[in-house]
Amino acid sequence: MERTQCLAAHVVGRVLAGRSLDSELTAVWRQHATLSPQQRGAVQDVAYGALRHLGYVDAAIDRLLSRPLTDLPVRNLLQVTLYQLMHTKAHSYAIVNHAVPAAAKLGFPKAQGLVNAVLRNFLRRRDELDAAIMATDLGRYSYPQWWIDRVAAEYPEAWREILDAGNARPPLTLRVNRRKITRDNYLEMLKLQDIAAHVVGRQGIVIEKPRPVSLLPGFADGQVSVQDAGAQMAAELLDVADGMRVLDACAAPGGKAAHLLELADIDLTAADIDAQRLQRVTENLTRLSLNAKLLQADAGDPAAWRNAGLFDRILADVPCTASGVVRRHPDIKWLRKPTDIAAMAQRQTQILDTLWQLLGSGGKLLYATCSVFSEENGRQVEQFIARHDDARQIAVSLSAEGLRQSHGQLFPDAAHDGFYYALLEKV
Ligand SMILES: C[S@@+](CC[C@H](N)C(=O)[O-])C[C@H]1O[C@@H](n2cnc3c(N)ncnc32)[C@H](O)[C@@H]1O
Repeated sequence: MERTQCLAAHVVGRVLAGRSLDSELTAVWRQHATLSPQQRGAVQDVAYGALRHLGYVDAAIDRLLSRPLTDLPVRNLLQVTLYQLMHTKAHSYAIVNHAVPAAAKLGFPKAQGLVNAVLRNFLRRRDELDAAIMATDLGRYSYPQWWIDRVAAEYPEAWREILDAGNARPPLTLRVNRRKITRDNYLEMLKLQDIAAHVVGRQGIVIEKPRPVSLLPGFADGQVSVQDAGAQMAAELLDVADGMRVLDACAAPGGKAAHLLELADIDLTAADIDAQRLQRVTENLTRLSLNAKLLQADAGDPAAWRNAGLFDRILADVPCTASGVVRRHPDIKWLRKPTDIAAMAQRQTQILDTLWQLLGSGGKLLYATCSVFSEENGRQVEQFIARHDDARQIAVSLSAEGLRQSHGQLFPDAAHDGFYYALLEKV
């Protein structure tokens, strides 16, 4: 456990210094190649958990310290171990007993007494601390205050549920590749292997006890892909048919591009600005036995599309703050700054305006984000319609069972991440 605590504390420290959780975990796996899948799972669980509940654990640390802690790695160790004490099944004495030598391992032997005292005090004063911490927004919801204020102002009815949904563990959701197997037949295969699952949306299946995808039947053969139920709505909404010329302008890693190709025999161009991420599109399409033209291009630069011709359908799954997918990426809550929203909205405007020129008359463009901030969503689209006389918004229905939405804004909940969809037609 000591090693788990040290590695998770290291990862949390790197994230709070501005790095992404995914890249830091990947770096740890590379440096510690001997970690077993179980050990990796434990490090990942603790790092994710500490970041999900960071507002709470930080409030606890501040209440338990008599003076500020300047050694950040020691603070990171307390963050991960307090998370363990609150949310894991490990015995509290084991968590504390390992955390003390872990402080020495991190290079702070003199902090061992402090770590011991803070954790034992937490256990002793837990009820009193919990009441005080849960009375504050930061402690109760574990998001930066600006984020809480913004979501509360935009969604006076639903803000608490939206914030809570972002702190839940996400389900493992699959999309069945209907070119290879029906959903019912895949469910049968799962049943034969005693894997409990239920359906979500039109092509989705939720695996009730998440497991590595390599252990799922037919995954390597492309019978299923991992894709959130909210993300699975995009390809259906774009309404593609055989023979259409389609552009997925921000395609990597290729989840929605693959879904489009599973739905119809289209001529698909899958573009992305990032060459390395485009490689992931290739890998995903290869596994699914699907084909597209791959293109490295900036969707916001008209010069990059001079010879591209016109498309019948365009998917603009634009870069965004990703505020709707924090349950899968809890680092986002702490890495984003309030000014990022306007900066992102500006990039999105540029991309939308550029792509609109590539859409043929009567064609449709689906604008998509995985955000809940209206500046990137409803307001962005309102302004777009005001700038373009030839654009008409088609109302979309996201009302599959269990999917909560309002005007194209899908609120994150237990079944799916938060998404926004606007379907625009060129008239
Ligand atoms: C939300 S992700 C797309 C997810 C993808 N559609 C899927 O379903 O797997 C946004 C993508 O936009 C790409 N991107 C960011 N800025 C871009 C730009 N100016 N032009 C094209 N792609 C861009 C990013 O590299 C990233 O891969």
